[in-house]
Amino acid sequence: MTSKQEVILSGIRPTGRLHYGNYFGAMKSFIDLQEKGHQCFYFIADYHALTTVTERVDILQQTIDMLRTYVACGLDPVRSVIYRQSDLPCTAELALLLGMITNIGHLERGTTYKDKMSKLAESSQGGEGNPLSYGLLGYPVLMAADILIVRANQVPVGDDQRQHVEMAIDIAQKFNHRFGETLSIPRAVERNALRLPGLDGAAKMGKSDNNTLDLLDDPKTVLKKIKGVQTTTDPEPLDTESNDPDMVIPKMPYSVGALYRLLSLLAPEDVYLDFVGKYRRGEKFYGTLKTTLAEYVSKFNEPIIEGFNAPNNTPDSIKDFLHENAKKVTPVGLETVESCRQAMGIGRSLYRA
Ligand code: TYM
Repeated sequence: MTSKQEVILSGIRPTGRLHYGNYFGAMKSFIDLQEKGHQCFYFIADYHALTTVTERVDILQQTIDMLRTYVACGLDPVRSVIYRQSDLPCTAELALLLGMITNIGHLERGTTYKDKMSKLAESSQGGEGNPLSYGLLGYPVLMAADILIVRANQVPVGDDQRQHVEMAIDIAQKFNHRFGETLSIPRAVERNALRLPGLDGAAKMGKSDNNTLDLLDDPKTVLKKIKGVQTTTDPEPLDTESNDPDMVIPKMPYSVGALYRLLSLLAPEDVYLDFVGKYRRGEKFYGTLKTTLAEYVSKFNEPIIEGFNAPNNTPDSIKDFLHENAKKVTPVGLETVESCRQAMGIGRSLYRA
């Protein structure tokens, strides 16, 4: 254990397949932090998956496939504690306790909730009162419980989750202020956190928007998806001298920006710079950009697909380590919940004592 070792926690919902937004927004940092020797807790947010279900879905199957992808990407279930959220059920108890101090107004300002509300208003389904679930409104409280239960210092997530981490910080500060120093306060999300645009030109790549490039896509699918990206014939002039992706890409239309962002993440710098030069000069180059990018993407996907299908990465081997890792995370989880119970005045659980 190094003196700078920190507690890291993050999770991903079990949507079945990881996309490039998940990978470069979150998973890449999961791996880097694991390699740096931090104490890492990475989980699959299967409770959170239930906030949007309208019919029965095989969440367990999707969870196992996500975990096989975690392993294929390089997460190591021995060095990192990889678990299912629902295997740490005291998270739900902590969420209940934290819910007692969370203002409804605060939750109603949450971006996920607000987005769903405005989609409802557009579809004029709002007739019989608010049909959104209590679970969806409480999504950030459950997420705060995930983070605070292991006393995380750092939460590697993409830019879209920034507000949720800020809510967790607010909730923890409020708890400590009201009941005494009990919870550890995590750091806010870094300013340069990524938001990868969707292949359809939306500001964000997201599973429910059907605009993703996935880590398990085979070369044919990759090429088809990338060729389908809408590219304007005449690039807009870039009013910056800089070639830094963070300066250049926001000046491009989102769908073109998605291609350039992927290129900057996957290709050597000279290849990326060459295409930035072509964009500036207004050459006709989108065809080559797409085939070049598709090759880099398929090359990137190849070992992940192989790892996903490897004989030592079966659903049974996943179940084995899930069992072991649930045992590793439970002590810290119970300790946090018990200290919150005590701080709030209901005392320790007699059943667990
Ligand atoms: P989820 O499953 O939507 O996304 C998982 C991770 O991928 C990142 N991400 C992106 N990053 C950049 N560009 C994109 N287009 C993009 N799309 C997704 C997300 O920022 C996230 O880091 N609420 C979380 C899961 C969760 C969690 C937690 C995370 C539950 N409890 C506690 C951290 C800590 C979610 O739905 O992520």
